Amino acid sequence: MGDLNTTYLGMELESPLVASASPLTQDVGNIRRLEDAGAAAVVMHSLFEEQILIESRELDRFLSQGSESYGEALEYFPDLPSYEIGPEAYLELIRKAREAVSIPVIGSLNGCTPSGWVEYAKQIEQAGAHAIELNVYFLATDPGMSALDVENKYVELLREVKARVSIPVAIKLGPYFSAFANMAHRLDAAGADGLVLFNRFYQPDFDLEYLEVTPNLQLSNSQELRLRLRWAAVLYSHLRAEIAITGGVHEFTDVLKAVMAGANVAMMTSAVLRHGFGHFTRLRREMHDWLEANDYESINQMRGSMSMKSIGDPAAFERANYLKVLSSYSMR
Ligand SMILES: Cc1cc2nc3c(=O)[nH]c(=O)nc-3n(C[C@H](O)[C@H](O)[C@H](O)COP(=O)(O)O)c2cc1C
Repeated sequence: MGDLNTTYLGMELESPLVASASPLTQDVGNIRRLEDAGAAAVVMHSLFEEQILIESRELDRFLSQGSESYGEALEYFPDLPSYEIGPEAYLELIRKAREAVSIPVIGSLNGCTPSGWVEYAKQIEQAGAHAIELNVYFLATDPGMSALDVENKYVELLREVKARVSIPVAIKLGPYFSAFANMAHRLDAAGADGLVLFNRFYQPDFDLEYLEVTPNLQLSNSQELRLRLRWAAVLYSHLRAEIAITGGVHEFTDVLKAVMAGANVAMMTSAVLRHGFGHFTRLRREMHDWLEANDYESINQMRGSMSMKSIGDPAAFERANYLKVLSSYSMR
């Protein structure tokens, strides 16, 4: 039987199948079910500092009986953990998950202030997470902020967190950088242990009747994988950081493609929400069958085999293929 073992963030995993951050990892029973079904690691849903800030403002207003302004209340934020709200339940979940399963438990943090990122990253480490994923979901809507300002923010944030925790740190980011390869190299140099490609930026819709901007979450499909495959294939072998692909991993063939592009793991949420925990079991079986039928002894053997470095025609990942793609469309 083909060997599915891989490594991620310095950990030995039984397969590249990882449950990405989602409500699925919001309770210990589900985390256990994910392990039983064959997930090789789980990423907890994110601890959102934004939410903590809102709660802290409300608590603060309550404590000060309305005498404090919002701005002043926000200044109390660095002392927030002593309030024991929001993050406590999250940290407790990490502790319980560690006791309940033997697969790695990766904490996830979505911060919004420099002190918050660092403070909660430290707490996630103390709660026993094997590693941490920084979920950076930032949209630069301020025209005064340049691309370099944005990139520096990512790098500084990563450096700060790396300096304060000793568990491995992965950073989950979106694809919208003018020079993504350079950005990835900068994060690598700043000490990223993993790059998680890519965050999906959910696009709001308009409600024409109520003239409201409405949130709109749609699950992914395998088409979304292609963007991730391209960048994993471009970056493979150029980074010390390992690559995780999230977004558009649905079928076992998607997992194999992710590994061939150069990823160490392929993460899933939409597919599991659609098909249930047993989806991991099916993919594992199908991967084993495929490896056997195609004479592979292990998936490590195929890692990066379709990367830009390995294929004969690197132009397939570059602009040179643009014309070929356009010409390939048939009107029939
Ligand atoms: C309902 C839902 C909740 C999610 N919550 C989080 C979260 O808390 N933190 C995070 O980093 N990503 C979160 N994600 C994003 C997923 O981890 C994943 O990156 C994304 O759905 C793309 O993967 P997929 O194509 O397998 O769904 C969430 C996704 C969904 C659908």
